[in-house]
Amino acid sequence: MSRQRLLQLYEQIKHHNDCYYKKAQPEISDFEYDRLVEEKIVLESQSAELFPTNSAPELVGDDRNEGFSQYLHVVPMLSLENTYSRDELKAFLERVYKNLPRSSLDYVVEPKLDGVAISLTYERGLLTRAVTRGNGVQGDIVTRNLLMIPNLPKRLSGKNHPESIEIRGEIFMDHQEFERINQERKKSDQTLYANPRNLAAGTIKLLDPVIAQSRKLQIVLYGLGGLEPNRFNSLKEFHQQLETWKLPTVEKRWYAQTTEEIFSGIEELDQMRIHFPYPTDGAVVKVNAFSDQKHLGRTAKAPRWAIAYKFPAEQAETTLKRITIQIGRTGVLTPVAELEPVFVSGTTVSRATLHNADEIARKDIREGDCVLIEKAGEIIPAVIQSLPEKRNASSVPFDFFQRCQQMGIHAIRNQGEIAWKLADPDSSIQKHRQIQHFASRVAMDIDHLGTAVIQQLLDKKIITDLPDLYQLAKESLVDLEKFGNKSAQNLIDSLEKSKNNPLWRLIHGLGIPGVGAQVSKDLSRQFQSLIRMTEATEEELISISGIAEASAQNLIQFFKQSQNQDLIKQLEIAGLNFTEDPDVRVNGNPLIQGKVFVITGTLPTISRNEAKQRIEQNGGKAKGSVSNKTDYLVAGEAPGSKREKAEKLGIPIIDESALLEMLGKS
Ligand code: IVH
Repeated sequence: MSRQRLLQLYEQIKHHNDCYYKKAQPEISDFEYDRLVEEKIVLESQSAELFPTNSAPELVGDDRNEGFSQYLHVVPMLSLENTYSRDELKAFLERVYKNLPRSSLDYVVEPKLDGVAISLTYERGLLTRAVTRGNGVQGDIVTRNLLMIPNLPKRLSGKNHPESIEIRGEIFMDHQEFERINQERKKSDQTLYANPRNLAAGTIKLLDPVIAQSRKLQIVLYGLGGLEPNRFNSLKEFHQQLETWKLPTVEKRWYAQTTEEIFSGIEELDQMRIHFPYPTDGAVVKVNAFSDQKHLGRTAKAPRWAIAYKFPAEQAETTLKRITIQIGRTGVLTPVAELEPVFVSGTTVSRATLHNADEIARKDIREGDCVLIEKAGEIIPAVIQSLPEKRNASSVPFDFFQRCQQMGIHAIRNQGEIAWKLADPDSSIQKHRQIQHFASRVAMDIDHLGTAVIQQLLDKKIITDLPDLYQLAKESLVDLEKFGNKSAQNLIDSLEKSKNNPLWRLIHGLGIPGVGAQVSKDLSRQFQSLIRMTEATEEELISISGIAEASAQNLIQFFKQSQNQDLIKQLEIAGLNFTEDPDVRVNGNPLIQGKVFVITGTLPTISRNEAKQRIEQNGGKAKGSVSNKTDYLVAGEAPGSKREKAEKLGIPIIDESALLEMLGKS
């Protein structure tokens, strides 16, 4: 039993790691995730003989995405040991004392930011590179989007800067900005982002610099990576240096010596963290002196000189009135808890996710149950467990499949998949959802084609399939409820107008799993034509920056099916635009457009001439000498005096990989 559960946990943790790190779209809260990891650790320790640890899969997160250039961190970016328990924190302090039995030892207590880890390299005081955590050893180079963060100095203040230093921190988005973006999305019927952390993670990896720039990210720095020779004796000294370099640092930190001082720092932090501009989910307790840190060492994943004490997510008790089933655009069926409204973490919650049918069964959550829900910050509320002791004697377990049947939904589940789906892609429910998505603002943006109209068109058999929309005659519409001559003409006009939509809208409108608006834009830009895209191989698709392996497989799968090939043929016959909107290209690359570059030294992979050509193709200028009109110096091996001049003038110096990042895949 425990072996089976362990295998299930490995699968689940792996799945949630991918959602969190790679896709920046977690399905469960951090608290639930930590609980799965804890259960795994307990089971592993109990069943060592059943399950030799060397057969356990690697469960360390990895945010690297296909298509980004990678960089090997000079000093790896480790994780932190996590705990929610005061006793475990005390045990950590005792362990430190055992290894360093001294009368006094200095600690730092700091807020634990719930953002996206980043490593910045400053060379002789100038920002040259920004890299994500990746798998801890190697991360994605994301300099391009980081350059747009207003509170990130591109140049350190003062003098006497190290030759090269890695500084670690977190990127975040404040609540106000998160709300602003979601409000805008709400207005245009777009799905809302779950929380600021994931939106920040997604923004860093955006391929469209215009969108990246329009979202206000911020940064806070707290940690030291590679620095040779290390000129600091302690974190305290390093923090002071961060301040004189005028880098943004945490709001407050506590220097402590005793367990009591550490706990009082944590308590004070818990009281005041609500006023911080960034989300925090705990306190990090660190040994202050670098010599002590070195002495304590590290495990494979985390340092032995630091620990994260996490604040519990806020929970509340309420009644689960009903379980409803939401049908996604691809036919995925998701159970949702309809709750007696309850106030938690600053908002009233009346719906919460139940993830999937297996989760309901595993937790035995029933309609009418008293349930515990949890909400951490902006995370979508989740039902954690039911309270069976308060259960009505007549209650029965929830049968997902049966409920679907009662609702007239024929559900199936493919082997090895967690989600239930609509069995019949031709069912009228699925057709309705497909057309609804196709017509939505985020996709083809067809006015006057709301859900009531779609329902009638299908019910009255005026249309049976999506392409029939483009064959609609005005006469067949006037019989629809609340539809006069004018509304009929409006709908015909909107459909006609949609034929000239940019290609990405059509790609998104097809409703391929994992192919949202951003991926559609990337695909459109890359292939320039829908037909060419349908002929692409999996390798070709994966090589496009921003396209995950799963999305590439879904695309291949989609275009392989004959009914989808027919769909595309019919849309082509109907006269829809199948090619990239020329405007997108004419606008050029805003990161390069109008900017003056100077290239110096030997670049590692492309010639200076090629770099120059590509800058010019993207609307930039490549000049031979540095002046105060220069925007960037691209420096390779043996850069000579141009680099010195750029340094004097405070012009950002970037390397080839940062330039390639800025150029994108052009
Ligand atoms: S120190 C060697 N301090 O939390 C690792 N990390 O869950 C030392 N984090 O990977 C990290 N706030 O990305 C440190 N004040 C803080 C932090 C912090 C957030 C992140 C960091 C780390 C992760 C572990």
